[in-house]
Amino acid sequence: MTATIIDGTQLARAWRAQIAADAASWAADAGREPCLQTILVGDDPASNVYIGMKRRACAEVGIRSQHVHLPGSSTTDAVCSVVADAAADDGVDGLLVQFPLPDGIDADAVIAAIPPSKDVDCFHPHNIGMLAAGRPGALVPCTPAGIMHMLDAHDVRIAGAHAVVVGRSTLVGRPAALMLLDRDATVTIAHSRTLDLASITAQADILIVAVGRPALVDASMVKPGAVVIDVGINRTADGLVGDVDFDSVQHVAGMITPVPGGVGPMTVATLMANTVAAARVSSL
Ligand code: GUN
Repeated sequence: MTATIIDGTQLARAWRAQIAADAASWAADAGREPCLQTILVGDDPASNVYIGMKRRACAEVGIRSQHVHLPGSSTTDAVCSVVADAAADDGVDGLLVQFPLPDGIDADAVIAAIPPSKDVDCFHPHNIGMLAAGRPGALVPCTPAGIMHMLDAHDVRIAGAHAVVVGRSTLVGRPAALMLLDRDATVTIAHSRTLDLASITAQADILIVAVGRPALVDASMVKPGAVVIDVGINRTADGLVGDVDFDSVQHVAGMITPVPGGVGPMTVATLMANTVAAARVSSL
Protein backbone atom coordinates (compact mmCIF):
# COMPACT_ATOMS: atom_id res chain seq x y z
CA MET A 1 0.00 0.00 0.00
CA THR A 2 1.15 3.55 -0.63
CA ALA A 3 -0.59 6.27 1.33
CA THR A 4 -2.48 9.18 -0.18
CA ILE A 5 -0.41 12.29 0.42
CA ILE A 6 -2.38 15.08 2.10
CA ASP A 7 -1.05 18.13 0.29
CA GLY A 8 -1.17 21.04 2.74
CA THR A 9 0.26 23.49 0.24
CA GLN A 10 -2.59 22.89 -2.20
CA LEU A 11 -5.33 22.79 0.45
CA ALA A 12 -4.04 26.00 2.01
CA ARG A 13 -3.97 27.72 -1.38
CA ALA A 14 -7.63 26.90 -2.00
CA TRP A 15 -8.57 27.96 1.55
CA ARG A 16 -6.64 31.24 1.25
CA ALA A 17 -8.68 32.11 -1.84
CA GLN A 18 -11.87 31.84 0.26
CA ILE A 19 -10.28 33.83 3.08
CA ALA A 20 -9.25 36.55 0.60
CA ALA A 21 -12.88 36.83 -0.54
CA ASP A 22 -14.03 37.11 3.12
CA ALA A 23 -11.37 39.72 3.85
CA ALA A 24 -12.39 41.76 0.79
CA SER A 25 -16.06 41.63 1.73
CA TRP A 26 -15.30 42.76 5.29
CA ALA A 27 -13.02 45.52 3.98
CA ALA A 28 -15.75 46.80 1.62
CA ASP A 29 -18.08 47.28 4.63
CA ALA A 30 -15.47 48.52 7.11
CA GLY A 31 -13.59 50.85 4.79
CA ARG A 32 -10.26 49.26 5.71
CA GLU A 33 -8.52 45.89 5.48
CA PRO A 34 -8.44 43.55 8.49
CA CYS A 35 -5.18 44.13 10.37
CA LEU A 36 -2.81 41.69 12.10
CA GLN A 37 -0.20 43.02 14.55
CA THR A 38 2.79 40.71 14.89
CA ILE A 39 5.36 41.02 17.67
CA LEU A 40 8.75 39.30 17.64
CA VAL A 41 11.12 39.43 20.60
CA GLY A 42 14.77 38.56 20.00
CA ASP A 43 16.52 37.13 16.96
CA ASP A 44 15.61 33.45 16.79
CA PRO A 45 16.22 32.65 13.09
CA ALA A 46 13.30 30.19 12.81
CA SER A 47 10.91 32.70 14.39
CA ASN A 48 12.10 35.32 11.91
CA VAL A 49 11.29 32.96 9.04
CA TYR A 50 7.84 32.16 10.46
CA ILE A 51 6.96 35.83 10.94
CA GLY A 52 8.05 36.52 7.34
CA MET A 53 5.81 33.70 6.07
CA LYS A 54 2.84 34.96 8.10
CA ARG A 55 3.25 38.53 6.86
CA ARG A 56 3.56 37.40 3.24
CA ALA A 57 0.38 35.35 3.64
CA CYS A 58 -1.38 38.44 5.03
CA ALA A 59 -0.39 40.49 1.98
CA GLU A 60 -1.64 37.73 -0.30
CA VAL A 61 -5.14 37.54 1.21
CA GLY A 62 -5.71 41.27 1.73
CA ILE A 63 -4.89 41.55 5.43
CA ARG A 64 -2.73 44.48 6.48
CA SER A 65 0.11 43.42 8.78
CA GLN A 66 2.12 45.63 11.05
CA HIS A 67 5.13 44.41 12.92
CA VAL A 68 7.11 45.31 16.04
CA HIS A 69 10.52 43.74 16.62
CA LEU A 70 11.81 44.05 20.20
CA PRO A 71 15.33 43.20 21.37
CA GLY A 72 15.92 39.87 23.11
CA SER A 73 16.97 41.79 26.22
CA SER A 74 13.44 43.26 26.62
CA THR A 75 11.73 42.90 29.99
CA THR A 76 8.33 41.24 30.47
CA ASP A 77 6.88 44.70 31.23
CA ALA A 78 8.28 46.14 27.98
CA VAL A 79 6.72 43.33 25.93
CA CYS A 80 3.41 43.61 27.80
CA SER A 81 3.38 47.35 27.17
CA VAL A 82 3.69 46.86 23.37
CA VAL A 83 0.94 44.22 23.58
CA ALA A 84 -1.24 46.65 25.58
CA ASP A 85 -0.80 49.37 22.92
CA ALA A 86 -1.93 46.99 20.18
CA ALA A 87 -4.75 45.74 22.42
CA ALA A 88 -6.06 49.31 22.77
CA ASP A 89 -5.72 50.12 19.05
CA ASP A 90 -9.11 49.88 17.29
CA GLY A 91 -7.27 49.53 13.98
CA VAL A 92 -5.71 46.22 15.09
CA ASP A 93 -7.98 43.17 14.80
CA GLY A 94 -5.57 40.32 15.52
CA LEU A 95 -2.52 40.25 17.79
CA LEU A 96 0.21 37.63 17.61
CA VAL A 97 3.33 37.33 19.76
CA GLN A 98 5.72 34.85 18.16
CA PHE A 99 6.88 32.01 20.44
CA PRO A 100 9.21 30.92 21.91
CA LEU A 101 9.97 34.10 23.87
CA PRO A 102 13.56 34.59 25.09
CA ASP A 103 14.44 33.15 28.51
CA GLY A 104 13.50 35.47 31.33
CA ILE A 105 10.27 36.74 29.76
CA ASP A 106 7.11 35.57 31.51
CA ALA A 107 5.16 34.03 28.61
CA ASP A 108 2.01 33.60 30.73
CA ALA A 109 1.97 37.33 31.55
CA VAL A 110 2.40 38.21 27.87
CA ILE A 111 -0.44 35.90 26.83
CA ALA A 112 -2.67 37.32 29.57
CA ALA A 113 -2.10 40.83 28.14
CA ILE A 114 -3.64 39.83 24.78
CA PRO A 115 -7.40 40.51 24.73
CA PRO A 116 -9.22 37.20 24.03
CA SER A 117 -11.07 38.90 21.14
CA LYS A 118 -7.75 39.62 19.35
CA ASP A 119 -6.04 36.36 20.33
CA VAL A 120 -5.62 34.89 16.84
CA ASP A 121 -3.36 32.12 18.18
CA CYS A 122 -6.05 31.05 20.66
CA PHE A 123 -3.42 30.98 23.41
CA HIS A 124 -5.33 32.99 26.04
CA PRO A 125 -6.66 30.87 28.97
CA HIS A 126 -10.17 32.24 28.29
CA ASN A 127 -10.14 30.94 24.70
CA ILE A 128 -8.51 27.61 25.58
CA GLY A 129 -10.89 27.28 28.55
CA MET A 130 -13.92 27.80 26.31
CA LEU A 131 -12.56 25.14 23.94
CA ALA A 132 -12.06 22.77 26.90
CA ALA A 133 -15.64 23.49 28.00
CA GLY A 134 -16.87 22.40 24.57
CA ARG A 135 -17.86 25.98 23.67
CA PRO A 136 -15.24 27.11 21.14
CA GLY A 137 -15.44 30.73 20.06
CA ALA A 138 -14.71 32.44 16.75
CA LEU A 139 -10.95 32.03 17.19
CA VAL A 140 -9.54 28.50 17.05
CA PRO A 141 -6.01 27.16 17.67
CA CYS A 142 -4.16 27.49 14.36
CA THR A 143 -2.34 24.18 13.97
CA PRO A 144 -5.13 21.95 15.35
CA ALA A 145 -7.77 23.77 13.28
CA GLY A 146 -5.55 23.42 10.20
CA ILE A 147 -5.35 19.67 10.89
CA MET A 148 -9.15 19.40 11.22
CA HIS A 149 -9.49 21.23 7.91
CA MET A 150 -7.15 18.67 6.29
CA LEU A 151 -9.09 15.72 7.73
CA ASP A 152 -12.39 17.20 6.53
CA ALA A 153 -11.01 17.96 3.07
CA HIS A 154 -10.14 14.25 2.75
CA ASP A 155 -13.46 13.06 4.25
CA VAL A 156 -11.72 11.33 7.14
CA ARG A 157 -14.32 9.98 9.57
CA ILE A 158 -13.58 11.55 12.94
CA ALA A 159 -16.65 10.59 15.01
CA GLY A 160 -15.99 7.28 16.71
CA ALA A 161 -12.43 7.00 15.41
CA HIS A 162 -9.57 6.38 17.83
CA ALA A 163 -7.34 9.46 17.58
CA VAL A 164 -3.95 9.31 19.26
CA VAL A 165 -2.17 12.62 19.80
CA VAL A 166 1.52 12.29 20.62
CA GLY A 167 2.61 15.48 22.41
CA ARG A 168 0.84 17.54 25.07
CA SER A 169 2.02 21.07 24.26
CA THR A 170 -0.34 23.99 24.83
CA LEU A 171 0.26 25.06 21.20
CA VAL A 172 -0.69 21.81 19.51
CA GLY A 173 -1.19 18.57 21.46
CA ARG A 174 -3.73 19.65 24.07
CA PRO A 175 -5.92 21.80 21.81
CA ALA A 176 -5.77 19.17 19.04
CA ALA A 177 -7.07 16.58 21.50
CA LEU A 178 -9.88 18.94 22.56
CA MET A 179 -10.93 19.64 18.97
CA LEU A 180 -10.97 15.92 18.13
CA LEU A 181 -13.02 15.21 21.25
CA ASP A 182 -15.43 17.96 20.23
CA ARG A 183 -15.93 16.03 16.98
CA ASP A 184 -16.68 12.79 18.88
CA ALA A 185 -13.35 11.01 18.38
CA THR A 186 -12.10 8.68 21.12
CA VAL A 187 -8.92 10.50 22.09
CA THR A 188 -5.70 9.27 23.69
CA ILE A 189 -2.93 11.74 24.52
CA ALA A 190 0.56 10.23 24.67
CA HIS A 191 3.71 12.12 25.71
CA SER A 192 7.34 11.82 26.74
CA ARG A 193 6.48 9.78 29.87
CA THR A 194 4.15 7.36 28.09
CA LEU A 195 5.22 3.73 28.55
CA ASP A 196 5.32 1.57 25.41
CA LEU A 197 4.42 4.37 23.00
CA ALA A 198 4.36 1.97 20.03
CA SER A 199 1.51 -0.08 21.52
CA ILE A 200 -0.58 3.11 21.83
CA THR A 201 0.22 4.61 18.41
CA ALA A 202 -0.50 1.23 16.75
CA GLN A 203 -4.15 1.54 17.90
CA ALA A 204 -4.69 4.89 16.18
CA ASP A 205 -7.07 5.37 13.28
CA ILE A 206 -5.89 8.98 13.27
CA LEU A 207 -2.33 9.57 14.53
CA ILE A 208 -1.14 13.11 15.19
CA VAL A 209 2.52 13.49 16.10
CA ALA A 210 3.65 16.81 17.57
CA VAL A 211 6.78 16.22 19.61
CA GLY A 212 9.75 17.71 17.74
CA ARG A 213 11.87 14.58 17.41
CA PRO A 214 12.93 13.35 13.95
CA ALA A 215 11.73 9.85 13.02
CA LEU A 216 10.04 9.28 16.39
CA VAL A 217 7.32 7.27 14.64
CA ASP A 218 8.28 4.50 12.22
CA ALA A 219 6.24 2.01 10.22
CA SER A 220 6.18 -0.57 13.05
CA MET A 221 4.22 1.91 15.21
CA VAL A 222 1.43 2.61 12.71
CA LYS A 223 -1.81 0.68 12.12
CA PRO A 224 -2.25 -0.23 8.44
CA GLY A 225 -4.52 2.32 6.78
CA ALA A 226 -4.19 4.94 9.54
CA VAL A 227 -4.29 8.67 8.80
CA VAL A 228 -0.93 10.07 9.94
CA ILE A 229 -0.53 13.80 10.56
CA ASP A 230 3.06 14.94 11.13
CA VAL A 231 3.31 18.29 12.94
CA GLY A 232 7.08 18.12 13.53
CA ILE A 233 9.42 20.54 11.82
CA ASN A 234 13.00 19.54 12.62
CA ARG A 235 16.07 21.08 11.04
CA THR A 236 18.61 18.31 10.39
CA ALA A 237 21.67 17.81 8.21
CA ASP A 238 19.26 16.29 5.65
CA GLY A 239 17.08 19.43 5.68
CA LEU A 240 13.60 19.86 7.19
CA VAL A 241 12.08 16.62 8.46
CA GLY A 242 9.02 15.80 10.51
CA ASP A 243 8.53 13.53 13.55
CA VAL A 244 7.39 10.66 11.32
CA ASP A 245 9.72 8.50 9.24
CA PHE A 246 7.87 9.35 6.02
CA ASP A 247 9.73 6.87 3.78
CA SER A 248 8.68 3.81 5.79
CA VAL A 249 5.30 5.01 7.12
CA GLN A 250 3.95 5.93 3.67
CA HIS A 251 3.86 2.19 2.88
CA VAL A 252 1.65 1.41 5.90
CA ALA A 253 -0.58 4.46 6.36
CA GLY A 254 -3.73 5.18 4.38
CA MET A 255 -3.01 8.91 4.30
CA ILE A 256 0.00 10.92 5.42
CA THR A 257 1.11 14.55 5.50
CA PRO A 258 4.57 15.46 4.17
CA VAL A 259 7.09 17.79 5.83
CA PRO A 260 7.44 20.41 4.50
CA GLY A 261 4.19 21.09 2.65
CA GLY A 262 1.82 19.43 5.11
CA VAL A 263 0.54 20.98 8.32
CA GLY A 264 2.68 24.16 8.15
CA PRO A 265 0.78 25.96 5.36
CA MET A 266 -2.54 25.05 7.04
CA THR A 267 -1.41 26.67 10.31
CA VAL A 268 -0.74 29.91 8.45
CA ALA A 269 -4.07 29.71 6.59
CA THR A 270 -5.93 29.30 9.91
CA LEU A 271 -4.15 32.37 11.24
CA MET A 272 -5.46 34.33 8.26
CA ALA A 273 -9.00 32.97 8.82
CA ASN A 274 -8.79 33.87 12.52
CA THR A 275 -7.70 37.42 11.72
CA VAL A 276 -10.71 37.94 9.46
CA ALA A 277 -12.94 36.33 12.12
CA ALA A 278 -11.52 38.68 14.76
CA ALA A 279 -12.24 41.65 12.48
CA ARG A 280 -15.83 40.45 12.01
CA VAL A 281 -16.38 40.02 15.75
CA SER A 282 -14.91 43.48 16.46
CA SER A 283 -17.36 45.12 14.06
CA LEU A 284 -20.50 43.40 15.39
N1 GUN B 1 5.74 29.43 17.48
C1 GUN B 1 5.60 28.22 16.88
N2 GUN B 1 4.34 28.09 16.41
C2 GUN B 1 3.68 29.22 16.74
C3 GUN B 1 2.34 29.66 16.52
O1 GUN B 1 1.49 28.98 15.95
N3 GUN B 1 2.06 30.90 17.01
C4 GUN B 1 2.98 31.66 17.67
N4 GUN B 1 2.59 32.85 18.12
N5 GUN B 1 4.22 31.27 17.89
C5 GUN B 1 4.56 30.05 17.42
